[in-house]
Amino acid sequence: MGEIVVIGSSNTDLILKMEYFPAPGETIEGTSFLQAMGGKGANQALAAHKLGGNVKFVTCLGNDMNGENTMKYYKRQKLDVSLAITVDGAPSGTAMIWVDKKGENCIVINPGANGMLSPEHIDKVKGVIAKADMVVVQMEIPYATVQKICEIAHRHNTKILLNVAPASKIDLETIQMIDILVVNETEAETISGERIESLGEEAVVDKLRTMGAQTVVLTLGKKGSLFKNDQTYFHVPAFKVEAVDSTAAGDVFCGALAAGLGKGHDWVKAIKFATAASALCVMRLGAQPSIPTEREVYDFLNKKELPYSR
Ligand code: RIB
Ligand code: NA
Repeated sequence: MGEIVVIGSSNTDLILKMEYFPAPGETIEGTSFLQAMGGKGANQALAAHKLGGNVKFVTCLGNDMNGENTMKYYKRQKLDVSLAITVDGAPSGTAMIWVDKKGENCIVINPGANGMLSPEHIDKVKGVIAKADMVVVQMEIPYATVQKICEIAHRHNTKILLNVAPASKIDLETIQMIDILVVNETEAETISGERIESLGEEAVVDKLRTMGAQTVVLTLGKKGSLFKNDQTYFHVPAFKVEAVDSTAAGDVFCGALAAGLGKGHDWVKAIKFATAASALCVMRLGAQPSIPTEREVYDFLNKKELPYSR
């Protein structure tokens, strides 16, 4: 099976559930609290790993308690973190996450060590990127590092899945190296400079493809996702589920998509697999605690439609 190298952030998430988000100056009581592992990079790496991918995760942690706990946790999960880096001078990444009763969230991140994952670090793992089938990247690490990863992967014909989260602008040269661009509505608008409300979803996807992305996956939350490349254009609806916490739904989608493709699924099957994995994630609290197993995803798909073969 093809190797997937995920490169990105690790955070310790402090998750507080509440009835509604307080206004400035207001104090309210939360309804529950959970401290758990997160970070878009780590969420995607662990999702791809749990969902059947052959994954290596490159990340940067601080030399502190959160960093140590995070490494221990990854090892217990049997995630390959042999290429993880520990740095002095910055705390491990942290995220404060508020979740309201509708399952929507507000997140404030302190990048800490994630901000120190440098192009030089990437240079040291270029052999690993070169020989992988796919590299999976997000935007919680320095932009110069993202560019460096894309350059190396592109030069060695390693497929690039870039999830432009959190929403950021990316330069044309980088977009042109992307094989699979995964974006939500805000991210698509930020990159394309177009409004979905005025242009429509497909036209914005087309714009992203004109800019240079080969394959574009536009995730639409409750409305599912749109897929477009040179050969096909299709929509996959989302599953109706009881939303507890949408945190990491996009990450699980990306990790599952990479794992599905790594297992040789065609596009439709891989997107359905990713849609189901992210539906299961939305039904649970927390980022990494809500990542389903491969078995759970296949069982869920089988319950929802005709028997689904691996
Ligand atoms: O995408 C969800 C993630 O965003 C959380 O786990 C949090 O750490 C932030 O990085
Ligand atoms: Na969740």
